Amino acid sequence: MTTVHTYDAVIVGAGGAGLRAAIEAADRVRTAVISKLYPTRSHTGTAQGGMCAALANVEEDYPEWHAFDTVKGGDYLVDQPAAQLMTEEAVDAVYQLEHWGLPFNRTPEGRIDQRRFGGHTRNHGEAPVRRACYAADRTGHMILQTLYQQCVKRDVRFFNEFYVLDQLLSDGRCAGVVAYELATGEIHVFRAKSVLYATGGYGRIFKVSSNAHTLTGDGPAVLFRRGIPLQDMEFFQFHPTGVYKLGILLSEAVRGEGGILVNSEGERFMERYAPTVKDLAPRDLVSRAIYQEIKEGRGVGPRRDAVYLDVRHLPHDVIEEKLPDVTEFARVYLGVEPTREPVPIQPTAHYAMGGIPTNTDAQVVVGEEETPVPGLYAAGECACVSVHGANRLGTNSLLDIVVFGRRGGLHMSEFAGDADLPDLPDAPDVRVHETIDGLLNRPEGANAADIRGELQEQMFDLAFVVRSETSLRKMADVLAGLRERYERVFVQDTGKTFNTELTEVIELGFMLDCADALVAAALARDESRGGHYREDHPLRDDANWLKHSLAYRQADGSIKLETKPVKLGPYIPMERKY
Ligand code: FUM
Repeated sequence: MTTVHTYDAVIVGAGGAGLRAAIEAADRVRTAVISKLYPTRSHTGTAQGGMCAALANVEEDYPEWHAFDTVKGGDYLVDQPAAQLMTEEAVDAVYQLEHWGLPFNRTPEGRIDQRRFGGHTRNHGEAPVRRACYAADRTGHMILQTLYQQCVKRDVRFFNEFYVLDQLLSDGRCAGVVAYELATGEIHVFRAKSVLYATGGYGRIFKVSSNAHTLTGDGPAVLFRRGIPLQDMEFFQFHPTGVYKLGILLSEAVRGEGGILVNSEGERFMERYAPTVKDLAPRDLVSRAIYQEIKEGRGVGPRRDAVYLDVRHLPHDVIEEKLPDVTEFARVYLGVEPTREPVPIQPTAHYAMGGIPTNTDAQVVVGEEETPVPGLYAAGECACVSVHGANRLGTNSLLDIVVFGRRGGLHMSEFAGDADLPDLPDAPDVRVHETIDGLLNRPEGANAADIRGELQEQMFDLAFVVRSETSLRKMADVLAGLRERYERVFVQDTGKTFNTELTEVIELGFMLDCADALVAAALARDESRGGHYREDHPLRDDANWLKHSLAYRQADGSIKLETKPVKLGPYIPMERKY
């Protein structure tokens, strides 16, 4: 049985971007939020170090400096008007959160305190600047709670533990979504004038990741299967400091507060790679430096495949009061006491710069002309606006979700306010029923855990911080084999109530879609830029590649690639020196 619901605006995902959009939309039109999790369990809650804005509370700073750093940090693939807009709106966005009760850390005078983060600099690269506003190392948690309270205040209707599996389009216009209710196995059609995706990233395609198990690329994959392209998928960020082997994030705020990276010789090696900003270089540079140190035999640990994060020289009150969670993670997961011992770390798959192409009102756009799909929106990590270009700066993500969540929520509600209710396509739920019935009625087949394990292992090996045509071709072959096995995947549990085996198999299909797009785009881009480093093409090639990639899923399953220009602005692409 399928239940049909009707709303003006439907938001898919209840992390920071989704909740911020909901606050905006719920004031204007009938709004529902559909989330496969309880909202306060969304991955935004794990974001640690801060949200940046040029408040200039502790030292001189300007949105223009912030915009420059964002463009340079993104290795000039950033759409500059979008970055300018985001950095200008950042200041009000922080104060609005403060007024909604977010408990930021304070200066002795009572202002919002600010700290350093990688790639954020004073006066176009002179030295690190204090730009990140923070609540200890729990900034994302505080943002999520604050936004959720505002949604509750506005009586936003939540459909929690509902998993959106299909996008409905009618005459090229958004008509709603189809969702699977985890508790009952029931299918629900949400007829809606506008839909905004805010489903987060897909870091779980890699074995070592800071991402929650739920980050499986659901939104991008749902739209990819409906003919929407995915943009700049080759750019995936590895955060330098993940807990060794586990990948759990140890915030860059540790280095912002003065922590340093050290190799097996006790050397602060970032002084060699980035003489001006050292350990506070952008993440792509630091992750590659760690890779290089390990490759040249200066790694630590039994397999010499880690380096140390060292905070022993920091005052104890800084460690305990400004970095309490990070400190606890080192103690709990590694059995290391950071005040006395260095902490072994390794790069961890952290953030997708690419995703669903959007404009600055979060409208989903297709093609080189960026034609909006009426009623369809995306914001946050699942979207590519593109403010992060080839490499995101730390703390620009919490900013992105709030700024573009708000803009998307506003635009989608204005659109819905003016539009008629779209017709539903015939049998709107048929595709989802076929998928689920197909999986549940198969008497035997391939094992999903094996496919997932191999995907994660191989992606971490072959599409890592450093790639090459050889490694990527190998990965493309691996993916073809995994896809073939996935077509025969077997679900043992045929139950309807919280069938997590079924949902994990569906998630695996979405992960394969994202990995396909990533590898196809990475193979095509024969240059190195930001988070995409090709050892066979180690230089940036602006003559041929100062452009975004667009990957389309074809009817026969293959991927077609197109490109579109980067929107330039005041900042002329230059060699990145830090
Ligand atoms: O290191 C961190 O706290 C992560 C921040 C971010 O990804 O923006």
